[in-house]
Amino acid sequence: MIKRVRGTQDILPQASGSWQEIEEVARRIFSLYEYQEIRTPIIENVSLFNRSLGETTEIVQKQMFQVKHEKDHLVLRPEGTAPIVRAYLENNLDKLKTVNKLYYLGPMFRAERPQKGRLRQFHHLGVEAIGSIMPQLDVEVISLADRILREAGITEFQIYLNTLGCPKDKAKLSYQLQKKLSSQVSHLCSECQNRLNRNVFRVLDCKNAACQKVVSGLDLNHDYLCSDCNEHFRAVIDGLKSINIDYKISHTLVRGLDYYTQTIFEIKHQELGAQDALGAGGRYDNLVAEFGGASSGAIGFAFGIERLLLVRNNQQSDTKDFKRSVYLVTLGTEANKKGVQLLHNLRINNICADTDYATRSLKAQMRKANDSGAKYCIIIGENELERGLFSLKDMESGQQKDISEANLLNEISNLVPNHRS
Ligand code: HAM
Repeated sequence: MIKRVRGTQDILPQASGSWQEIEEVARRIFSLYEYQEIRTPIIENVSLFNRSLGETTEIVQKQMFQVKHEKDHLVLRPEGTAPIVRAYLENNLDKLKTVNKLYYLGPMFRAERPQKGRLRQFHHLGVEAIGSIMPQLDVEVISLADRILREAGITEFQIYLNTLGCPKDKAKLSYQLQKKLSSQVSHLCSECQNRLNRNVFRVLDCKNAACQKVVSGLDLNHDYLCSDCNEHFRAVIDGLKSINIDYKISHTLVRGLDYYTQTIFEIKHQELGAQDALGAGGRYDNLVAEFGGASSGAIGFAFGIERLLLVRNNQQSDTKDFKRSVYLVTLGTEANKKGVQLLHNLRINNICADTDYATRSLKAQMRKANDSGAKYCIIIGENELERGLFSLKDMESGQQKDISEANLLNEISNLVPNHRS
């Protein structure tokens, strides 16, 4: 048998309802904050990511699924920020509005070693707000992330916040880290000993216990920030406080991608175990200019939908939920024919309805009706047809009554809400 690719998932009908719920919550909140959807291709040119994410990052070095076709060197997108900035410039979105507030949902691909919460094809749900350097936009984006989690029923998450400052400040921080870590180089894993000179920020994300011990002992503060960047970060903090968004400052939070500057954040949940980030984001004020556009501030974040669902499904209780729909049971050839018309009429009237396309006994069909979770069941047998009557059963109470064909639609419309409303 041909199996699915390692690190990918089939989202089966039993699970797709939870996906739709999360997506609906997110879309509702995005539109509340006036973000509009953008959909970019799944394949992009490899050069888009090499430069923006950084040549020394884990993603560029090891995790990109590359596709070579004739002269093209393509890649399955590992993340959404760089493609959206490309699309923003390529389609002149900057000419339409000063600030473009965009959201996206879709698959991303990284060739990582699969484990709980870590897949090779996973899904992002995120935003990119491009065109402003104001700290109030940082506050909006972080509070939007917080709101989505709360509306999705996810609690006990923690927002970690830090700032890298402008490129000059970031270089200063990098130098400070190199200096502090060099004195303890022998305690670092061999990979981090290499990282020390190539990209010291990655040492701070290493999962190796010895490296984590060294990192947790680092005495860090914000003295690498210039006064403007210090002021920006203060304004973000004040804004978050003014709307009661809970956060913790983490001096060791640096994020793995090169494009970040200024505010960065990560949202963690204990229940996730080793892969504990529900989502993350930050400012990337220089990326638009790096891609050839006019210098413009930008900030965004992305949640991993699989991780949101891992946490959310653990929190939900398993109660039987009667769907607001109708199940049709037919017995005999004539009843089957009548069933076609009745199903059509119910659906034309926006009433959710289904039947069992298998010739089965009354008992088997009733069992199926029960399993379907439908709220009402209509039974059409030979006897009923002759008398021009159908049986209507309330599946919750078990009560059953006869109804004339002429009255059926009216009666059902009063019992079951319109699917469109
Ligand atoms: P990221 O931290 O690489 O950021 O990914 C964001 C989230 O995607 C992670 O916190 C995690 O929940 C999820 N995720 C990442 N890799 C995997 C994986 N292999 N399997 C399952 N879930 C995963 C970004 O990608 C940035 N583009 C976020 C951003 C938007 N920054 C600014 N704007």
